[in-house]
Amino acid sequence: MAERIDGNAVAEDIRADLRSCVETLTAANETPTLATVLMSPDPASETYVAMKQNDCEELGIDALDIELPLDAPAAELFETIDELNADESVNAILVQSPVPDHVDYREVIERIDPVKDVDGFHPENIGKLVAGYPVYKPCTPHGIQKLLEATDIETAGKEAVVVGRSRIVGKPMANLFIQKATGGNATTTVCHSRTENLAEKTREADILVAAAGVPELIDGSMVGEGATVIDVGINRVDADTDKGYKLVGDVEFASASEKAGAITPVPGGVGPMTRAMLLYNTIKATSLQTGVDVTLP
Ligand code: GUN
Repeated sequence: MAERIDGNAVAEDIRADLRSCVETLTAANETPTLATVLMSPDPASETYVAMKQNDCEELGIDALDIELPLDAPAAELFETIDELNADESVNAILVQSPVPDHVDYREVIERIDPVKDVDGFHPENIGKLVAGYPVYKPCTPHGIQKLLEATDIETAGKEAVVVGRSRIVGKPMANLFIQKATGGNATTTVCHSRTENLAEKTREADILVAAAGVPELIDGSMVGEGATVIDVGINRVDADTDKGYKLVGDVEFASASEKAGAITPVPGGVGPMTRAMLLYNTIKATSLQTGVDVTLP
């Protein structure tokens, strides 16, 4: 049976290190401030943003919680972003996606000052990442790199297969895997909805990252013996529970565990790491903007 990779434990270790960075910044009168903006039709978004706010509070980071009505004009969201960009007391800005259909998320991202873009989604930040000198690594792929490192899973020279090509996970994950840097140097394949013979590709993986947003897409027959399986999916599927749904990943955990060497659970795998790396980027943003040095983990 596969080793179960405990994302909560690794995230807690990282938060412990980040706490001393916050103390350094606060001692210099530069307490980090993250502004989250919620204008999302996805009911899960509210929960995610609330968790991000909680994480900040726990670490001593100030958090501004801005909520806009779903029918607010796009101009109102842009004005909010402009104000946050101009506000020197705000170091970091995150607009939770998805946004309503009448708002173009691309415009939203491009509106955020790149130095406050702690998601790492602005084209300037993506460009720097692809060019090999990332400033803010997107939180989920960065968290996965940290999770692999903490579990002593080598990426250099390995076959990494990423299933999914999203802006948030798939594309930056593949880019991090091919970097000539720690957590990179992997031979990397990106699979997506038009990939033929998906199982053939995934079975070749030493490290398989499932980030397609399709419940239980990857089963045991698609996992190579001893592979490391990282499940990014958090899918709500109808179930006879109090909430009327349950959370399942992109991986069928039971069958995949029989083949994998190590595997992340859902929940408790990648999710807590994503949140920890948002704190990391918020601290980094504050350090870059204020010139106060911190030692990031
Ligand atoms: N929606 C789902 N994941 C994310 C994320 O990492 N950042 C933002 N802004 N929205 C998301």
